Amino acid sequence: MKTTIKEVSKFVDKEVTIGAWIANKRSSGKIAFLQLRDGTGFIQGVVVKAEVDEAVFQTAKSITQESSIFVTGVVRVDERSPFGYELGVTGIEVIHESVNYPITPKEHGTEFLMDHRHLWLRSKRQHAVMKIRNEIIRATYEFFNKEGFTKVDPPILTGSAPEGTSELFATKYFDEDAYLSQSGQLYMEAAAMALGKVFSFGPTFRAEKSKTRRHLIEFWMIEPEMAFYDFEDNLVVQENYVSYVVQSVLENCSLELTVLGRDTEKLQQIKAPFPRISYDDAIKFLNEKGFDDIKWGDDFGAPHETAIAESFDKPVFITHYPTGIKPFYMQPAPDRDDVVLCADLIAPEGYGEIIGGSQRIHDHELLKQRIEEHDLSPEAYQWYLQLREFGSVPHSGFGLGLERTVAWISGVEHVRETIPFPRLLNRLYP
Ligand code: 4AD
Ligand code: MG
Repeated sequence: MKTTIKEVSKFVDKEVTIGAWIANKRSSGKIAFLQLRDGTGFIQGVVVKAEVDEAVFQTAKSITQESSIFVTGVVRVDERSPFGYELGVTGIEVIHESVNYPITPKEHGTEFLMDHRHLWLRSKRQHAVMKIRNEIIRATYEFFNKEGFTKVDPPILTGSAPEGTSELFATKYFDEDAYLSQSGQLYMEAAAMALGKVFSFGPTFRAEKSKTRRHLIEFWMIEPEMAFYDFEDNLVVQENYVSYVVQSVLENCSLELTVLGRDTEKLQQIKAPFPRISYDDAIKFLNEKGFDDIKWGDDFGAPHETAIAESFDKPVFITHYPTGIKPFYMQPAPDRDDVVLCADLIAPEGYGEIIGGSQRIHDHELLKQRIEEHDLSPEAYQWYLQLREFGSVPHSGFGLGLERTVAWISGVEHVRETIPFPRLLNRLYP
């Protein structure tokens, strides 16, 4: 019976055939252990000299790392492995012999691994991270569909820049200037006026000269936008969504979390509601903690975010930032005009900001004024302003960065391991 590693539990004590690669191997005179992988999972194949044809045992002894094979064997329960099964190998058919696979079981430097990203993806650790990424995407679609949202796809080639003009990737659009999307938000606002509750999922691009463990040049964002939702309603969607995603990963990726050595107790606690702290209080807190490098009006750096996050065991919303350090479209607070109705969600354990969101300005005159104050071209925002001319309503939305969320939930240090082919400051290859 032909099957996959993921499905072997259905074939205990039966003989199966699996198309697989040799991830690793060790052998002695009498027995060979093959670490097999097939994309769906990893399983140990045991080849006992006394129990198989001599030719099979010789193949098992000589086969090289990453050779592809059809392996036949009897599925056995194996209490000692986290996976729970092993394969008592009876036959091996070599499909393709791999020679001098560059990523050997010894330690390699990061640059070497990044140069071989196309192969590094095959490792057990990278496989686990990609499975968790996939589960987060799956749970995202499930959550928003359950909640009555419609998925809308904003364009990637655009003529306007929602998140400021300094980090844009410019390109030619025939004779016009165009930019790669930094955020689909403005288009999602138009979509919310047509469909009520919408969400997008797509790539976004920022020519940021930041070389940190949290920054990618190309990253994927989930951007929900809701008509008639105010600042407070927006936070409730966010905490419910993030809790849903974390609990889904715990439920469906326990093996992957084990492979990564993730402390799952910390994740168990991630359930709505999440704590909130105002920007004002966050500054006070930091000053009291001895951070004298930050004052009211400054944006937080990574050490500040980490210090704040450390006092909570759940993600924390920092709310009501100064108007001057946030984009033009954010609704001012009703009682004071020096702060806006926005929140950033900071992940625990030093993973930093995973969500940025706000209530949006719905007053036409105020929005027009802000566009002028920010020196943005009124022509480029003509259509966006028009959304405030015909039945304008209070509305809110947010953007969750997928890779930072994968890093946090998986417990991996750097976002470069959370996307199949990371685009970094000095890396466009492979
Ligand atoms: O806070 P940001 O810039 O917000 C927006 O773009 C809004 N227009 C979203 C919205 O309201 N629809 O980005 C949102 C999130 C951040 O919190 C972070 O998780 C992620 O996107 N992000 C990055 N992730 C990886 N690399 C980068 N260079 C990132 N820049 C932002
Ligand atoms: Mg932000």
